Amino acid sequence: PKGKDETLAVPKVELHCHIEGAAPPRLVRQLADQHGVDVSEVIDGKGQYVWCDFTSFLKAYDTASSVFKTPADYALLAETYFRMLAAEGAIYGEIFISPDHAQAAGLSYRSYVEGLAAGIERAKIDTAIDGRMIAIGVRHFGTASVERVVKEVIGNPHPLVTGFGLAGDERSGHPANFAKAFRMAADAGLGTTAHAGEFGGPESITAALEFLRVKRLGHGVRAIEDRDLVKRLADEDIVLEVCPGSNIALGVYSVLRFHPVNMLRKEGVKVTLNSDDPPFFGTTLGKEYASVTETFGWTRDDQMEISRTAIMAAFCDDSTRNRLL
Ligand code: ADE
Ligand code: ZN
Repeated sequence: PKGKDETLAVPKVELHCHIEGAAPPRLVRQLADQHGVDVSEVIDGKGQYVWCDFTSFLKAYDTASSVFKTPADYALLAETYFRMLAAEGAIYGEIFISPDHAQAAGLSYRSYVEGLAAGIERAKIDTAIDGRMIAIGVRHFGTASVERVVKEVIGNPHPLVTGFGLAGDERSGHPANFAKAFRMAADAGLGTTAHAGEFGGPESITAALEFLRVKRLGHGVRAIEDRDLVKRLADEDIVLEVCPGSNIALGVYSVLRFHPVNMLRKEGVKVTLNSDDPPFFGTTLGKEYASVTETFGWTRDDQMEISRTAIMAAFCDDSTRNRLL
């Protein structure tokens, strides 16, 4: 078995983490007290998030998000998360940011991004970790809402917001509804990624590729149900942002042993390891690297390849990429 120190030594890269979903429960409690928000329904007496399925998870996520109200709150959230990530040996992280959640908390897009950017910069000063933001539209909020997000991003460019993505409930709304938003994002030079193949099957992935023209997929793991699609992902160098712990927590797979990450990789698909919403799913990026390594008998070289794949697929400039490699 791999020792803890050996895992720590591998430089790790996060491409798929929702910043609101990365909020430690104690930070949410602290801000809830400060702002007079009741979070007792989503954080239990032991200080753990409470949810039982994807729908109730999304609800808990919305409630936890609602305690972040000011740019300073978001700066604290980003700084806390990036410091934790750096402590696990990560050298780079991309966070999904959700302008809809900021708006619900009464914050403008610009203040939201500036707050988060300040936190990323603060964490970088003494950890050297690099970060970027991917603004996401929430699929179950509909086409108009997702297009509003992309327009905000394009109208308020920020050097650390380098991508656009689609999250939320994959079973709601066809990718065709978001084709225009993704075309606008790509035309503006943003990297693009979409959640697909988490709760939807292979057809959901095929539709995302066709209508959204993404080169990265959030999850994408259910491609394993279609041999031809697996071959297509490998041939077209589509990079999967795989989040094994999230998939187990949400019941997409029963146990890690039955998770397709290893098989997809063996079939030549480019996979990365990510944490999604770490405290909700009892995980961290370090735990993802460690558990997959142990379960599938990977080596340090396998882990290095995962990180290199992630760096190559990162939505950053080439000078940053070359420094990370
Ligand atoms: N938003 C936060 N976490 C998510 C997930 N795992 N899938 C889709 N949308 C999300
Ligand atoms: Zn996700």
